[in-house]
Parts: sequence; C-alpha cells; structure tokens
Amino acid sequence: MEIPEEIKKYIGLSNEEISILRGEASGLIKENMDGIIEEVISSLSQNERAVEIVKASGLSIERAKELFREWLNLTLEGNYDEEHASRVFKIGLAHCREGVPERLMVSTMGVFSREMIRVLLKSNKAELVVPLLKALYWNLALMLDSYEEARKRSLERATGIKGELQERLISISSKEIYDEYSEKRRG
Ligand code: HEM
Repeated sequence: MEIPEEIKKYIGLSNEEISILRGEASGLIKENMDGIIEEVISSLSQNERAVEIVKASGLSIERAKELFREWLNLTLEGNYDEEHASRVFKIGLAHCREGVPERLMVSTMGVFSREMIRVLLKSNKAELVVPLLKALYWNLALMLDSYEEARKRSLERATGIKGELQERLISISSKEIYDEYSEKRRG
C-alpha cells in the first residue's frame, strides 16, 4: 500500500469525513481563517529559532500568511489522494531545506489544531473535530516522512550508506544512548 493510503487507513480518515471537511468544516474554518493564521504567526514570532529561520529565508509575514492560507485551503478541499500527498510531501521538503526543526513543525501543527478546534467548538460543531484532526495528522505524518526521506538520501549521497543500513546503525546507537540516558537518570 502506498504511504498516503496507509496513513489514511491507520488514522481511519474515510471518504465521508473528507466530504464533511469540504462542506461544513471548510465553511466555518474559512470564515475564521484570518484569526487562525494570526494566532499561528503570533506563536512563530515568539519563538527565537523560528524568527531566525524566517529572517534567513527572507520570508515576509504577508508571504507566510499566503502560504498558510494556501495550505489550509488544500487541507479543507483536497482529495487526500496521491497528488494531494505529493504536494504535502513537497511542503515538508521545503521546511527540511529551510532547516525548520521537526519539533517546530509539530508544535505549529498543534497551534493550527488548537485554533481550528476552538472555532468548531464555538460554533457547537464538536462532531467536526475528529475528521479535522485526522486530516491534520495525515498532513503532519507526510511532512515528517519527507524529512526522513531527505535525511536518508542526503546521508546516502554523502557516505554511500544505504537507507536500510542507516536505520540499523541508528537503532544500535539509539540503544546505547537509551542505556546512557537511563544510567544518568538513575545516578
Ligand atoms: C504546520 C506548519 C506549517 C505549514 C502548514 C506551513 C506551510 C508552508 C507552505 C505551504 C510553504 C510553501 C512550500 C513550498 O514551497 O512548496 C512553506 C514554506 C516555508 N515555511 Fe512553512 N509551514 C509550516 C511551518 C513552518 C515553520 C514552523 C516555519 C519556521 C520558521 C516555517 C517556515 C517556512 C519557510 C522559511 C518557508 C520557505 C518560504 C519560501 O520558499 O519562500 N514554516 N510553509
């Protein structure tokens, strides 16, 4: 099974839920999109690392808002098929290229989720929260997958070590780090 389908199945994102997103959820979120984006920008601007990355990339606030709007529209109206997945994968790659740490991507998705859930709950539409969360996690899973892919390919190019062997090496050293960490916490 292709990865986007696998994630959809794992999360339980159904075609009915995708239609719900396109309909009722989309309407409500779009009406409140500016406020949602303002909150995300506000969180980003309070984070030192995010500010450094934005400065280094030359990204303006206006452009950042536009990019968020485009992605939100895609999330609310997309088909969650291969084509959609490859757009999201590419968005993830752009962040990996810009040096955005994964924890910042995850945290930002947390801010988007928080703000969108607030909108749905305020409108007494609690039943839309689960489809929305599934859609956001589908996006996040693909974005993080793109980081893994980029890392594997860069390491393979630089060292010649293939992805599978990289995974085994990481697993071995993670075991050592886990033991060291456990020892430190005990001592
Ligand atoms: C859920 C979180 C986020 C979403 C949905 C999002 C959305 C996007 C989109 C749609 C793009 C365009 C990608 C492309 O060229 O294909 C982009 C680029 C970018 N994003 Fe994000 N972003 C997120 C988090 C962040 C964070 C945490 C930072 C940290 C500072 C960041 C900084 C950037 C930068 C520097 C670019 C490149 C801009 C350019 O090429 O001009 N983004 N983002």
